[in-house]
Amino acid sequence: MATKIDGKQVAASINDAVKSATLALEKDTGVKPGLAVVIVGEDPASHAYVGAKSRMARECGFNSIQHTLPEGATQEELATIVEALNADETIHGILVQLPLPRHLNSDSIIQSIRPEKDVDGLHIVNAGKLATGDLDGGLVSCTPAGAMILVRRTHGEDLSGLSAVVIGRSNLFGKPMSALLLAANATVTTAHSRTENLSGICRNADILVAAVGRPEMVRASWVKSGATVIDVGINRIAASERGEGTYRLVGDVAFDECVEVAGVITPVPGGVGPMTIAMLMANTVIAAHRKAG
Ligand code: GUN
Repeated sequence: MATKIDGKQVAASINDAVKSATLALEKDTGVKPGLAVVIVGEDPASHAYVGAKSRMARECGFNSIQHTLPEGATQEELATIVEALNADETIHGILVQLPLPRHLNSDSIIQSIRPEKDVDGLHIVNAGKLATGDLDGGLVSCTPAGAMILVRRTHGEDLSGLSAVVIGRSNLFGKPMSALLLAANATVTTAHSRTENLSGICRNADILVAAVGRPEMVRASWVKSGATVIDVGINRIAASERGEGTYRLVGDVAFDECVEVAGVITPVPGGVGPMTIAMLMANTVIAAHRKAG
């Protein structure tokens, strides 16, 4: 039976460190970290995530602001807000919640964020630094950074000799996760929807990271005995299928069966999810520190 990683507990200790760093920064330099979160539209899941991010920013002692734009907002309206936040001296981190409504060009918005305020790590300058192995100079995408902390708790800093499989190749998660594992010397395979023999590839993984957005896709037969399984999926299963509550959250990993085979596993909820928010707070305090220092 696998050991379950308590992401909430790990995240709480990071949040505590962020709170202390915030107090120290303010005392030493008078600078209070500022985080601006921008959301467009009414998607309830996105609003839940953004609400949690803004709340945690307040709890950490940040200047926390949120811009909520209607579904019909124009590219120009959104660009104007980002420009103002880029110029705002009290704001050190800018996060535009994704996905944006289809009529908006996400990439041009993300690339218009000043790289030093890009706490999502999505700007090409930050993505490029990570891809070239500069782990300290830029800002790393929050979910992979959080998942990596959970991997390190089991395997330490050096993953030499370990094989890692990441299912998913998004800019927000799969690519930066693979880059972080590679930088730590793992032998990395990035799998995706066009990969053939996915289950066979996964079965070779000492570290298996699932970020596909398909409920409970990874089965016990895909998992090597004793592997570390990191589940990045957050899928809402409708009540009609389950008959309990309005919905319940499940990951991309069939937890109940994989827990029997894995060595270490993250649950959903309470695994990687809380780590994402903690790393957003950490990135914001790092960005504020660099600006002040
Ligand atoms: N949507 C889901 N996760 C994220 C995230 O980490 N950052 C942004 N900007 N949007 C998201």
